[in-house]
Amino acid sequence: MSDPDATIECTVTIAGTGSYVPEKVLSNADLEGMVDTSDEWITSRTGIRERRIAADGQSTSDLATEAGKRAMADAGIEPGEIDLIIVATISPDAFFPATACYVQKNLGATNAMCFDVSAACSGFLYAMQISRHFINTGNRKTALVIGAEKLSSMVDWEDRNTCVLFGDGAGAAVLRRDDNGGAGRKILSSSLGSDGRQTDILHVPGGGSACPITPDNADQKLNTIRMQGREVYKYAVNAMRRAVEDALQQAGLGASDVDMLIPHQANKRIIEAITERMGIPPEKTFINLDRYGNTSAAAVAIALDEANKTGSIKAGDHVVLVAFGAGLTWASTLVQW
Ligand code: ACO
Repeated sequence: MSDPDATIECTVTIAGTGSYVPEKVLSNADLEGMVDTSDEWITSRTGIRERRIAADGQSTSDLATEAGKRAMADAGIEPGEIDLIIVATISPDAFFPATACYVQKNLGATNAMCFDVSAACSGFLYAMQISRHFINTGNRKTALVIGAEKLSSMVDWEDRNTCVLFGDGAGAAVLRRDDNGGAGRKILSSSLGSDGRQTDILHVPGGGSACPITPDNADQKLNTIRMQGREVYKYAVNAMRRAVEDALQQAGLGASDVDMLIPHQANKRIIEAITERMGIPPEKTFINLDRYGNTSAAAVAIALDEANKTGSIKAGDHVVLVAFGAGLTWASTLVQW
């Protein structure tokens, strides 16, 4: 796979990470009381045991702001130093303005330029790569990149095919230019792709300009997530494996050089299918979907922060982040920690 981003210089570092999940826990046992499902079905098909649900008054920007604050504290930076905020989300506070602008207001990051990225579960890695371009061109120095979702607001809580899968949360990273060349946590390579022919296998059909919600169609819940799970599963395994291989190849590395794989947290079986085919052992794969479910754009960001804070990744490690989502979209990022 050729990647036009491969020529980027390696001068961007991850200066800090942060994450936030809402307090309310929704367990598989709780779901048994809501739809015709079982803890056994959910656990064996997905690996998910519980997920977090935002409070009624909590919006995506609230989750994003908290994750952003924690990433800034980890990086040791003040709001005024941030000159770019990108929020990756498919559950924005509103169609406009951008959720990133609400985050800017909450943080008091008055020097930042702000916008959102819509690439579903791949959004955080898309936003990292966009930030990398801004920083490498000298256009911006310090970016706050956030993946944040309140998917509970767009799930049909009567549809057992989807409602057991998703959760709410946010993760963030501060990206900075390294002018000295000596710092760790460098982004080495990235691989991004999309296949717009598959828009219909994972989507929210209504609520946008193509199909506004009207009094006549409101009862069809068109503004909730629809997914052909089997189809998504097949594409996810192949696309994520190719994306990991491409990012490694760009850096002259192979699967045996991976110290930690941090994959999108949609389904444990998808992750196992990828790692088994690539020969990456379970102890080199970071999984937290049992506690949070699929939080779309937030998933890789939350997992990265947890891997960082728990010491699961160490200085010098080759860390590969990889995601796959609606669009279809996929993305990988290789970091030397
Ligand atoms: N509880 C009990 N039974 C269920 C449930 C449930 N929660 N959900 C579905 N079933 C039933 C189905 O009705 C079906 O029954 P039937 O055989 O009588 O018709 C049976 O279980 C099998 O359903 P499948 O959909 O074939 O189950 P599968 O093994 O494929 O697992 C799953 C479904 C977990 C969704 C899987 O396909 C998957 O993980 N797909 C990928 C999802 C993904 O990666 N999404 C990422 C992107 S998300 C984003 O971008 C926002």
